[in-house]
Amino acid sequence: ASQLPEGYTIRPLQRGDYQKGFLDVLRVLTTVGDVTEEAWNTRYEWLSRHNDAYFLLTILDPSNRIVGTGALIVERKFIHNLGMVGHIEDIAVAKDQQGKKLGLRIIQALDFVAEKVGCYKSILDCSEANEGFYVKCGFKRAGLEMAHYY
Ligand code: ACO
Repeated sequence: ASQLPEGYTIRPLQRGDYQKGFLDVLRVLTTVGDVTEEAWNTRYEWLSRHNDAYFLLTILDPSNRIVGTGALIVERKFIHNLGMVGHIEDIAVAKDQQGKKLGLRIIQALDFVAEKVGCYKSILDCSEANEGFYVKCGFKRAGLEMAHYY
């Protein structure tokens, strides 16, 4: 956290983050939709009950607005001796805050958690346009993403 810009903090998602612009940060990534505070609370409580598998982080600026977020989902496998794999998802930094290494700090923090809980690797899907960012974060191209939308 000492490597963040002056006055910025990084911490796990909190229930009150609905009011701090969490969903607006995610809107730089994709469609979020109209999520009510009640619906948010229900999802937040589910995530809290699964806090050994879902790790959501946020970065706050000096005025306590959320300006970055990212998630790690820890998958428990049978293969590789009951191995665990980290899935990095939904990385987003507010448009006016990009280029300050906030994205890098989010990935580093999620990587730290993944290694600490015992994952043997972390993986993610991204666009070609973001490949350079993840290479700078220590990732390398592996495999091919496929999707089946319902
Ligand atoms: N291509 C190449 N290099 C990049 C890119 C890019 N698209 N973005 C950042 N970098 C480089 C930076 O120049 C920097 O390099 P340096 O160390 O040589 O100076 C390094 O990567 C770290 O960059 P940060 O400042 O940490 O990047 P930032 O805070 O702007 O966050 C992010 C990057 C998350 C991609 C941000 O631009 C963003 O939110 N984009 C919109 C949403 C998005 O696409 N999210 C990722 C979806 S994929 C997923 O979630 C798994």
